[in-house]
Amino acid sequence: MSDPIDAVVDAVVSTVPDVRGGLANRRSYESGANPSGDRQLAADVYADELLEDRLLGVDAVAGYASEERESIVRTEGRYYVAADPLDGSSNLKSNNAMGTVFGVYDEPLPTSGRDLLASGFVLYGPITTMVLARGGTVTESVIDADGTRRTVTEDLTLPEDPTVYGFGGRVPQWRDAFAGYVSAVEAELKLRYSGAMIGDVNQVLTYGGIFGYPGLRDRPEGKLRLCFEGHPIAHVVETAGGASSNGERSLLDLTPERLHERTPLFVGNDEYIDRLEAALG
Ligand code: AHG
Ligand code: MN
Ligand code: MN
Repeated sequence: MSDPIDAVVDAVVSTVPDVRGGLANRRSYESGANPSGDRQLAADVYADELLEDRLLGVDAVAGYASEERESIVRTEGRYYVAADPLDGSSNLKSNNAMGTVFGVYDEPLPTSGRDLLASGFVLYGPITTMVLARGGTVTESVIDADGTRRTVTEDLTLPEDPTVYGFGGRVPQWRDAFAGYVSAVEAELKLRYSGAMIGDVNQVLTYGGIFGYPGLRDRPEGKLRLCFEGHPIAHVVETAGGASSNGERSLLDLTPERLHERTPLFVGNDEYIDRLEAALG
C-alpha cells in the first residue's frame, strides 16, 4: 500500500498542470466573496474545485478545508487537508507569482499547528516548483508541464546570512513598535515584497531574512489566515531551520477557534523573529 501522505502530495501535484493551464482565462472576479470576505477570482474557485476533487479521491483524506469555502468537506479517511488554493491570486492581473498552500493535519480542523504531518506550497513562478516539509526535512521539486515531479533540493535550509525582508499592510497602519522594528531591519536588509506570501516566503527560504504581515491599527488580527497560510508556512520555515511568530510565539503553538481566523504572521531567520518579539513585547 502506498504511503498515504505521498498520496495526498501526489494529488496536489496532479492539479498543477490544470491550474497552471487554467490561469490565463480565469482572471475575472466572481460575484461572491470567500468566507474571509475577500473577493474571489474565477481562478480561486477553479483551483479550489480541482483540489477538492483530487484530494477527496485519496482514501486517506477524511476532510478538505479551503480558504475559499465556509465549511469542511468530510468523508471517510484519516488525515485532514487545509488549502489556500491560490495564494496571491491578486497577482494574476499583473502576471506575478502565486501558488497553492497546503497542510496535512493528523486531527480534525481547526486544530493546533503541532498536528501538522506535512505542509508545503506550489509556486507558479517562471518555473513551477513545490516546496514540501515532511519528517523534519524540506525538499524542493520542479513540476514539469506534464505533472512529473523531480527533486532539485534534497535538504532546503534557511541561509545563515539574511538578505531580504518584506512586510505587508499600509505603513500608516503599522503600530509604532512594529514601525520602529522595521526601521532597524530596513537598514540591514533589502526590500522584497511581491503581494503573494509564498513568493515572498520563497525569497526568504532562498536568500534568508524575514517576511511578515503584521497586526494593524485598524485590523489587529492582520490579514493572513492561521489555518490556511500561517500553520503550513510556519511548518515549512521552522522545518528549514527558521522561526515563526504571531508577534508573541510560534504560529505552530496556536489553535484557531474559528476555521477562517486571521493572525499576524512572521517567518524567517530566528535572529529577526527574536528581535521582533522583543520589539512587540
Ligand atoms: P490570497 O490571494 O490567498 O488572499 O492571499 C493574499 C495574501 C498574501 O498572499 C499576501 O502576502 C497578501 O495577501 C498581500 O496583501 P496586500 O495586497 O495587502 O499587500
Ligand atoms: Mn493566501
Ligand atoms: Mn487564496
